[in-house]
Amino acid sequence: MAEPAAEPSATDLVETAASAGPSSEPKGHQSRTFPQVDPTDPAFQGLGKRAQKRLLRERRYEETKLERRRAEKERIKRKKAEFREKIDKGLIAPPPKKQRIEQNPTNLRIEINSMAKQIIRCYSANKVSPRPVREICIASHGGRIKECFDTRHKDVVRWSGVTWNANPYEETFDKEELVYLTADSNDRILEIDEGKVYIIGGIVDKNRHKKLCYEKASKQGIRTAQLPIGEYIKMASRKVLTVNHVFEILLKYMEHKDWEKAFLEVIPHRKFKENQGVGRRKEDGKDGEEDEDGEEEGEEEGDEGDKEDEDE
Ligand SMILES: C[S@@+](CC[C@H](N)C(=O)[O-])C[C@H]1O[C@@H](n2cnc3c(N)ncnc32)[C@H](O)[C@@H]1O
Repeated sequence: MAEPAAEPSATDLVETAASAGPSSEPKGHQSRTFPQVDPTDPAFQGLGKRAQKRLLRERRYEETKLERRRAEKERIKRKKAEFREKIDKGLIAPPPKKQRIEQNPTNLRIEINSMAKQIIRCYSANKVSPRPVREICIASHGGRIKECFDTRHKDVVRWSGVTWNANPYEETFDKEELVYLTADSNDRILEIDEGKVYIIGGIVDKNRHKKLCYEKASKQGIRTAQLPIGEYIKMASRKVLTVNHVFEILLKYMEHKDWEKAFLEVIPHRKFKENQGVGRRKEDGKDGEEDEDGEEEGEEEGDEGDKEDEDE
């Protein structure tokens, strides 16, 4: 279903938060006081000193997550402003546009890894779904994403219900049966038609490349449609979601036949406009998250951190 990352781009901002993890002391927060071991807290009971410390560290990491993200956004904004100022003053030459997009192999690696993890999440969600899709087809499977799976996720060869296809989707399926899902489409899917193949663009770009998928599909003469999010949920920013969230929404819709329920169960509630009247999901802030307001949540262990400001 997902088309893997077609050499996704990266900016030099991607890397910055990637190394943050529970064990690292968040910058600028050293002076805060954090809860100490509470002997009445059952979570600490039966734990050795080291395990208690680890638990405290993890809690502190969780508590400071939002603050760290905010600080990181500020830092990136400052960096950008400084950079622009230097360009304006003629101290440095503006980077050629293309280079800015294609550059840093480390960041590209991070995005490829993120894509791989999102595909893994799709597979896992499908496996446990009471109403799974018949087949997930990973089209255009080659290059770095294949290399990533071949080296880091070798067990995928044992996955059932997934086909890995080196050919692009347009060579694998009839055009008429394809529907390219994209937030930029003017159409909305109202129902899931079991006779159709729904394409999710295998891209991790924080929506840097606006309308990329929409334009590609339109050029290919493939029908496009967005999820009907706006009809049910007020979002704080645009409605561009990660590959795994889109996939999970489709699964939930097939299970409940209820879009609102599907959106509420999958989309992190912090992305909703305030006063939406729903509480936070347990997993909020843990999933891979494609966001234009500067937040991409990494794959938990810090192998992809919060990243960049996205200019809308
Ligand atoms: C991170 S988005 C890619 C954003 C990219 N800039 C683009 O051109 O679409 C990854 C994929 O998720 C799907 N997607 C994300 N949000 C969606 C929405 N609101 N409706 C339908 N599909 C969506 C699309 O297939 C998209 O290609």
